[in-house]
Amino acid sequence: MSHLSQSDLEIAQLLETELHRQRDGLEMIPSENFVSRSVLDALGCIGTNKYSEGYPGMRYYGGCKNVDAVENIARERAKALFGVTHANVQPYSGSPANQAVYFALLDPGDTVMGMHLYFGGHMTHGLPVNFSGTIYRSVQYQSRPDGYLDLDAMAEMAKKEKPKMIIVGATAYPRQYDWKPLKEIADSVGAFLMADISHIAGLIVAGAHPSPVGIADVITTTTHKTLRGPRGAMILCNGNESTPLKKVERSRENIPTLIDRAIIPGLQGGPHNHQTAAIAVTLKEAATPEFNVYGHQIVKNAKALAETLLELGYELVTGGTDNHLILVNLTNKGISGKEAESVLDAVGITVNKNTVPFDPRKPFDPSGIRMGTPALTTRGFTETDMKQVGRLIHQALSEGMGSEAKQQEIKMNVKELADTHPLYPDLSYLG
Ligand SMILES: Cc1ncc(COP(=O)(O)O)c(C=O)c1O
Repeated sequence: MSHLSQSDLEIAQLLETELHRQRDGLEMIPSENFVSRSVLDALGCIGTNKYSEGYPGMRYYGGCKNVDAVENIARERAKALFGVTHANVQPYSGSPANQAVYFALLDPGDTVMGMHLYFGGHMTHGLPVNFSGTIYRSVQYQSRPDGYLDLDAMAEMAKKEKPKMIIVGATAYPRQYDWKPLKEIADSVGAFLMADISHIAGLIVAGAHPSPVGIADVITTTTHKTLRGPRGAMILCNGNESTPLKKVERSRENIPTLIDRAIIPGLQGGPHNHQTAAIAVTLKEAATPEFNVYGHQIVKNAKALAETLLELGYELVTGGTDNHLILVNLTNKGISGKEAESVLDAVGITVNKNTVPFDPRKPFDPSGIRMGTPALTTRGFTETDMKQVGRLIHQALSEGMGSEAKQQEIKMNVKELADTHPLYPDLSYLG
């Protein structure tokens, strides 16, 4: 019996049930993935026992020799993988990483221009109820009606509003970013360009999406999406290295020091050393040729799914995808996003409801669903499997609506397909 199942059977049983949910269903939330057993091992390690406020070689606690070495490896691997001169691997997650950039580069009340949540942006990109829209003056850009970024409207908004920082990067954008024109817009008004590559970091390191490195002033990314690591985040940039103990002038060259000082003492206390260890392992995995193949397969799978759904009469925002996700506008099918999420959940296919550009419906019951291929690709799904997934989705959204018997039948077919690509076959929380 494992230590956990002996001491806390209630939690062990819940984890086992969740393990079966992940195994038996089709995980299609584009921001989710399945980490390797090595990443899981590192995440569950004794690094969690250690306090190490500060940075390697500059800690406020004794006994940091080993965690210093781990953090240094994580930083070096991040720098090599993305091709930057500076990497901060301490942000607890994506939202705190974004908050650190605001804290480093802006004063309260400064204007920030980010993508509106309903058009694919993240809450931390200036949503009025988020810190980013409360402490700062937020102006929000929208996409074009076809779902593509509207560069002309962005340039016009920048000229009119004079933001100090422009944020590009989304939670629901199915196309690639062309970073240079975006940097030109930022430069035209002297704004910093922040690239939030949380969703696409894995595609970027695999060479399946253009990189903002060398173009954007600062880059944030979560480590748990396409990068396939633990929950966590990194801030990447180029510039002068200086001790974070010293206050420096707010300039482009000083961004590395400004970021380090924003994380600690600005926002956080002790780094999560178990998380840092798991990030280091993730970055080693992401530097392999296998990961390159993985990143390209994510995109191939998303395109195969898009093609199948288009053939079955579904309307996709922007007409398709060139990354890891697709946004389906269900209006022509007479189903709401909420209904679709619910029936797909019932058959074991996990997606999430999502607004579509200029959505006439409310965000808690929008017109669309968002789905992605990073997690299924990790399980080994290929284009042929994705076509089958597309057909199962269609079956659920047509025959499965309102028929529990049909839903049960589809759920069995979903499990059968999932079983062809086993997930964590030797893992158990009860054994
Ligand atoms: C583009 C983007 N930025 C930031 C975040 C925030 O990450 P976290 O949920 O780790 O705070 C997300 C999460 O979905 C995201 O999609």
